[in-house]
Amino acid sequence: MIYKPKKILLRNGRTVIFKSPSPDDWQKLIDYVKCVASETPYILRTPEECKDTEESERAFINGYNDSELNCMISVYDGDKIVGNCNLTIKNRIKVRHRAELAIGLCKSHYRLGIGTALITELSIIARNLGCTQFELIYVDGNYRAKGLYEKCGFAPVARIPNGTKMSDGSFADEIYMVKKL
Ligand SMILES: CC(C)(COP(=O)(O)OP(=O)(O)OC[C@H]1O[C@@H](n2cnc3c(N)ncnc32)[C@H](O)[C@@H]1OP(=O)(O)O)[C@@H](O)C(=O)NCCC(=O)NCCS
Repeated sequence: MIYKPKKILLRNGRTVIFKSPSPDDWQKLIDYVKCVASETPYILRTPEECKDTEESERAFINGYNDSELNCMISVYDGDKIVGNCNLTIKNRIKVRHRAELAIGLCKSHYRLGIGTALITELSIIARNLGCTQFELIYVDGNYRAKGLYEKCGFAPVARIPNGTKMSDGSFADEIYMVKKL
């Protein structure tokens, strides 16, 4: 699904553009993932797992843009991608009412209201596609994500003990959250 570009005014008075990435922006998206993976321990991928190629990244972007159920919105600051989020809706009829989201930003763009604005946009899209609930997972200890999700109306529903192994060998729980749409 293609998300129509939208200009977003940030808390610091600057603007960014939310839009679906073009396949030609494959390198920008790879640079963004490398940025996030190196700056936070709380996304699934480690920096050494960022091994995408032009071919795989173009296919990844096209997969979202061509989908009727899934949507990807990137955050463009000038020519650079500084954030990204994905909406995925389950395909089977019995679980077609459930949308999932994943979101990340480069540190340079934290706490400017971008996370809140992305979740607002994704909630509208999910609702328009007939979904009645929004779901996500975060790693215990990620207080920024917890704050964002609580602010946006998500509530914790489950915890997977030791769901994530951190780079120092310790384990952290995964927290599952749900929001009614
Ligand atoms: C989690 C993340 C997406 C938050 O996005 P953001 O754009 O900074 O969030 P917002 O500016 O919209 O803030 C939303 C709310 O979250 C909470 N919050 C955000 N940062 C916080 C912090 N450092 N301390 C306490 N609360 C915080 C606040 O309630 C905030 O609302 P407020 O600014 O009106 O008080 C961002 O920090 C990020 O990309 N982190 C790295 C990747 C990641 O952890 N992704 C989530 C994986 S589950």
